Amino acid sequence: MRIIIEPDHVAVACRAARLVADFIRGKPSCVLGLPTGSTPLGMYRELIRLHRDEGLDFSEVITFNLDEYIGLAPGHRQSYRYYMQENFLDHVNIRSQNSHVPDGFTRDFEGSCDLYEQAIRDAGGIDLQILGIGSDGHIAFNEPGSSLASRTRIKALASETIRDNARFFESEADVPRLAITVGIGTILEARRCLLLGTGSAKASSICAMVEGPVTAQVPASVLQLHRDVLVLVDQAAGEQLQRRAYYEEVERVRQLLDAGELRQLGIGKP
Ligand code: F6R
Repeated sequence: MRIIIEPDHVAVACRAARLVADFIRGKPSCVLGLPTGSTPLGMYRELIRLHRDEGLDFSEVITFNLDEYIGLAPGHRQSYRYYMQENFLDHVNIRSQNSHVPDGFTRDFEGSCDLYEQAIRDAGGIDLQILGIGSDGHIAFNEPGSSLASRTRIKALASETIRDNARFFESEADVPRLAITVGIGTILEARRCLLLGTGSAKASSICAMVEGPVTAQVPASVLQLHRDVLVLVDQAAGEQLQRRAYYEEVERVRQLLDAGELRQLGIGKP
């Protein structure tokens, strides 16, 4: 895992957007896996700005969202389809047929989950999976205890997640209890992962994910088994990391290597 600690959530958003923009420029027809929630809002805003001001082109990009509440129509203000349209899709030139969000309004749950997996395969798999993290360590809606090999399916939300997400609804009772979520196995098949974490409420789950054991009780910890993961956090979310000095040193060395400053690394000195 590569860990980058930025000063605050604004710096995380800008860096994440820059990474995604560079990725798209490198592969204009890439397949992106996308999260909702509070954490990626700044990144979406910055990507919209890059589209508007710098011509970042999404015309060939394909997107798959991680999850959707069950029982909310796509036009419901708290549905993730609505969130995506409002906060990102309506403001960039992604073709409507190229953006996918699981269908939370279906009654054929199993069939719809299988179709979603098939659509990801048909698109060639996820090139870059962007993730947030729950305060209970979930990724997408894979709550603690989820199979580490799981595929797209229905999950019951954990009480912690219901509490956390109640801020978007009139009351906790209005938060749907079920969601369709891509599985952990689905996420692990992405070629690259970028996980964003901001704010002190995420500090313990970030620490458990990066420095704790790989366990289904902290679903995000499975990312330790993925070979290309970048964890981008702000100071608050990174504050419980024990080895932060080392992560910062790794980044310093990386920058010197990238800049070809080998002498500063003690390479080539007589
Ligand atoms: C949402 C998703 C969730 C969120 C997580 C953090 O699509 O996949 O795993 O990333 O619940 O949510 P926020 O960013 O609102 O703290």
